Amino acid sequence: MSAQIISGKDISAEIRSELAERVAALARDHGVVPGLATVLVGEDPASEMYVGMKNRAAGALGIHSRQITLPAGTPEEELLGLVVGLNADPDIHGILVQLPLPDRIDEAKVIESIHPSKDVDGFHPISVGRLATDSGAFFAPCTPAGVIEMLLRSGHDPAGKHVVVAGRSNIVGRPLASLLLRKSRGGNATVTVCHSRTPDLGAVTRTAEILVVAIGRPEMVTADMVAPGAVVIDVGTHRVDDPSSERGYRVCGDVLFDEVKEVASALSPSPGGVGPMTITMLLSNTVESASRSVVGR
Ligand code: GUN
Repeated sequence: MSAQIISGKDISAEIRSELAERVAALARDHGVVPGLATVLVGEDPASEMYVGMKNRAAGALGIHSRQITLPAGTPEEELLGLVVGLNADPDIHGILVQLPLPDRIDEAKVIESIHPSKDVDGFHPISVGRLATDSGAFFAPCTPAGVIEMLLRSGHDPAGKHVVVAGRSNIVGRPLASLLLRKSRGGNATVTVCHSRTPDLGAVTRTAEILVVAIGRPEMVTADMVAPGAVVIDVGTHRVDDPSSERGYRVCGDVLFDEVKEVASALSPSPGGVGPMTITMLLSNTVESASRSVVGR
């Protein structure tokens, strides 16, 4: 048996076309253009690439994007002052400060300076708390929100299922567990969280009807760790040396794809799985923030 492939690329394209319609309706009915501000401090090439991708994707949907690039030596006070200005700017509905920040800057302080109503990354402690308590208005972190959309739109609603989340990071594992526990769309699952220090990880992952792997180790999940017929979402993305490839490397996930596809009933690839969904959910949060600003007026 070979698994159904859950393509994050295709699901992203579907969601982005829905978002383009919402952007057009906001302009037509309310004269509002969703605005996303991205803030990059320093010259880390990977961060520059991610921020560039986010801005291009926003522009393609008709979202106004403002990229602010500051030198690595920017004082913390200046960055905090910039965020205060963006919080007050009515043309900006979402603020994203690209992480990691230079060591001198207190990351938590910067995240806490973003107004929760514009926290489209979902990293502010108020956003985290509202998600954990399933109350109030907040934006969910983009990667776990993308995992939920992939499950729903590929016909694998987590409601009533035993979902095992492998990984406990603040960006993926923990918020994903909270989303799955909510009493609303994409929630109502029975959730187990395991991680790299779980003894006999395979014994836990084998109990999953839906297994989400965000453990951060290349191709760690092998076929023997997956129950026959399980649905598997691979959040990992790694560059590993591959002398047989022209580039000298290949990109893989946390799941040994070729093996697990013979056991699972459905599986997301990496690349082409969760990766494209993360940016899509950032765009979705930004459009939603602009919509809320219209209702709030
Ligand atoms: N760095 C790596 N991923 C992310 C992300 O999702 N948001 C922000 N702000 N920084 C990141």
